Amino acid sequence: GEGLQTKVFGKKIHYKEKVDSTNNVAKKLAEEGAEEGTIVLAEEQSGGRGRLERSFLSPFAQGVWFSLILRPTFLPMEVSKMTLLAAVALTKALHKMGLVECGIKWPNDILVKDRKVVGILTELNASMERINYLVMGIGINTSLTKKELPKDLRKTVTSFTIENVPVHRQALLQEVLLQLERYYEIAETEGFKPILAEWKVLSMMMGKEVEVSEPGRSFTGKAVDLDDSGNLIVETEAGRETVLAGDVRVRAV
Ligand code: BTN
Repeated sequence: GEGLQTKVFGKKIHYKEKVDSTNNVAKKLAEEGAEEGTIVLAEEQSGGRGRLERSFLSPFAQGVWFSLILRPTFLPMEVSKMTLLAAVALTKALHKMGLVECGIKWPNDILVKDRKVVGILTELNASMERINYLVMGIGINTSLTKKELPKDLRKTVTSFTIENVPVHRQALLQEVLLQLERYYEIAETEGFKPILAEWKVLSMMMGKEVEVSEPGRSFTGKAVDLDDSGNLIVETEAGRETVLAGDVRVRAV
């Protein structure tokens, strides 16, 4: 193929057959001083992790499981926006690779209809003032098949193969790195505003009735906006609610 077109992202790749979690390996490398743009890529994860302490299925050669080390200069409080940035970049890349039906579910899952095709887990090492490093873990389901999926995941997980879209993992990774680097440059030069605006366009949630469950409370309403910090704004009968964490599902109507 045309090869890697990025300037920094993926110039150094630590390739592994099997790891517990590429995020763990990347954090260790970051502690040892690995430079920005370094990635850890594995064929298989025995302990792939997701948000909210969930596990992430990552069987041998059936997806692109990797983590990207970043050393951004912006403030630690902006990190949640980095995750939204990743979701925008990934959605763009997936569209380019022919998976045109996918959209973003707040904050950073990429779904085809109700099923997850990409998960993103961002982990941070920072003080109040500055980010030491950030590890952005990305899992893309490429050739998982329905048959191989545990029963309990069949309604919530999908892949390129399940969606009947042929995919070449190396080309996909190259496109993903290109889009990530492009949006990262935009964030550094123009800030997050244009990225949040794109997020809204690529989201499959805006204007929809959603069910929110956060630690300690749950409610329903209509997803109407993202605020400048990247929180989801949900309109309920009692007024506007700001969602900082937790789970948001589009309600079946
Ligand atoms: C989620 O679905 O909540 C996020 C899933 C993130 C999975 C990726 S796969 C590569 C990296 N290593 C991990 O252990 N998790 C992320």
